[in-house]
Amino acid sequence: MTQKIDNILRESRAFPPSSDFKATAHVASIEQYQRLHKQSLEQPEVFWDGVAKELPWMKPYGQVLDWSEAPNARWFVDGKLNASAVCLDQHIEAGHGDKVAILWEGEPGDRKTFTYSEMLAAVCRFANALKARGIKKGDRIAIYMPMIPELAMAVLACARIGAIHSVVFGGFSAQALADRITDGGCIGVITSDGGWRRGKVLPLKHVVDAAVDLCGAHCPVHTVLTVKRTENETKWNAERDVWYHELLEQVDDVCEPEPMDSEDVLFLLYTSGSTGKPKGIMHTTGGYMVGAYLSTRHVFDLKADDVFWCTADVGWITGHSYVVYGPMANGATQVMYEGAPNAPTEGRFWELIERYKVSVFYTAPTAIRAFMKWGDQHVDGKDLSSLRLLGTVGEPINPEAWMWYRKKIGGERCPIVDTWWQTETGGIMISPLPGITETSPGCASLPFFGVDAAILDGDGNELGENEGGFLAIRKPWPSMLRGLWGDEERYRETYWSKWPGNIYFPGDGARRDEKGHFWILGRVDDVINVSGHRLSTMEVESALVSHDLVVEAAVVGRPDDLTGEAIVAFVIPAGSATQDASVVKTLKEHVAVEIGKLACPAEVRLTDALPKTRSGKIMRRLLRDIAAGREQKGDMSTIENPAILEQLRAADV
Ligand code: WTA
Repeated sequence: MTQKIDNILRESRAFPPSSDFKATAHVASIEQYQRLHKQSLEQPEVFWDGVAKELPWMKPYGQVLDWSEAPNARWFVDGKLNASAVCLDQHIEAGHGDKVAILWEGEPGDRKTFTYSEMLAAVCRFANALKARGIKKGDRIAIYMPMIPELAMAVLACARIGAIHSVVFGGFSAQALADRITDGGCIGVITSDGGWRRGKVLPLKHVVDAAVDLCGAHCPVHTVLTVKRTENETKWNAERDVWYHELLEQVDDVCEPEPMDSEDVLFLLYTSGSTGKPKGIMHTTGGYMVGAYLSTRHVFDLKADDVFWCTADVGWITGHSYVVYGPMANGATQVMYEGAPNAPTEGRFWELIERYKVSVFYTAPTAIRAFMKWGDQHVDGKDLSSLRLLGTVGEPINPEAWMWYRKKIGGERCPIVDTWWQTETGGIMISPLPGITETSPGCASLPFFGVDAAILDGDGNELGENEGGFLAIRKPWPSMLRGLWGDEERYRETYWSKWPGNIYFPGDGARRDEKGHFWILGRVDDVINVSGHRLSTMEVESALVSHDLVVEAAVVGRPDDLTGEAIVAFVIPAGSATQDASVVKTLKEHVAVEIGKLACPAEVRLTDALPKTRSGKIMRRLLRDIAAGREQKGDMSTIENPAILEQLRAADV
């Protein structure tokens, strides 16, 4: 167990809900939560019908849930709705068209504001621009953009015409983008000539050009729509490339929303699993929207006058559910920021909170650890009194970071919601409800409505209080993934085959304490979480072995104070295994090219051999211990080549 997890196991501080917060919270007492949670599990049809009714359906649904072909779920069967109309039109029809939807700030300091009416007009124009390029319902469109308002508009424009968006985070390399374009069969890419990050322009269009080249002769992409954000020079392919601003001049701002079946795919989002190939997680329209809507409303206790800020990039699921769909389905006002938290200074986030009077702030533990390291002087003197609620997501939060967040940012008055969920779950699954849940540092606490969470052992037996085991979800929920794009078998195998009876296996370890609160202990598979970004050991290994210098590679995670986990690669090189800095550098750069900088190993250790069992299996447990500088414990008798351990311990850069 890592130190981080040991700390969580020992944590006993508890903070009662604040009575001020409770007085106005949507869910007003723990008893009310318990009653509603019980109903959501025992009578899911009744509970979810009550919620789904609040969305503007174009055609009412019949059955609430059809689980007869589990694990393939159908929610809100035969209902029709459009996600962009949920996010935009309904608020305008309700007379809130002048309410601010997005308060946007670019990294260089430029600012824009969009009301809900302005967003609708912009989204309709964008949708018409896509249509003008022949893009229609069911087509897949890759989006590779910086955090500019046009990113949210692009997502909603796809939703409006029923095109399936596949957003790829701007930190992924051309190769990774090409793999996702090919796998999804994307016929269009929406990008930008650049985006600002730490004072530099990210050359996004160049990466798209390279990706399209890498897709080769059978590349399905016929259109690359480029939003002008910078003055960055771009190559131009007259057939394929279109400037967004030029196309806009040819279209108007009226576009009726496409009536989508509840189970029509809304988007694909690729994430790492325990093999080398990323998975195209598939989310559909009705269930996902109901989940995003309700979780945003309750977990963030959103009120009409809140200013919400989720710092996640729309390239990740958090940005899908809690920048685009959830806040907008609730008609919220939110802040969107393009750049890095330390540009131009380490106080940038706190300035933004002060300037826009942010009241609900949602960020990642890795960012909080960076703020702590940068020092309190960047926070001191900033007026953070508008804040009333804080949240975290993406990885386990260490108790010191939680305490700092509570004290320094939340002024000891704001509840913290530590939200556990995944790309696959679509929305928040385990989290405190602010104002009513007693919180503890590092504890995700209680299952959200409709979530039947349990701790099971490998055989499916439910474990007792404080016993560590596998987290399991025993019932379907509306925003659950509906499959993996083009790979039904992998869907069943990865998520539904650990135990009999259609129980969902998220791949995380957890325990449940005497109060019934869940503590997430981290991944139990070969997924590493670096700065809240999911990466698979196998993915990094296959990137490494694709280089001529590499004979074999094994990749593990080790604890890291800043990034949560860091990647350590043990590599058998083609030549001599002396720790050659230039080889290490070459290999790190190669991973950046194959996947993206975010997957770069923190350490590459060159070695003659890897510790293996007599049957030839790499002993990852030993490698994890070596990478973390821990004593090797446990049974060593199965190791075939014990002498190699000494060499591995010694090799370090
Ligand atoms: C981890 C991000 C502990 C977990 C929304 C999960 C967390 C993976 C938490 C999903 C949390 C997410 N506490 N661990 N509050 N939230 N995780 O798909 O291991 O990028 O399985 O979704 O992040 O990562 P993903």
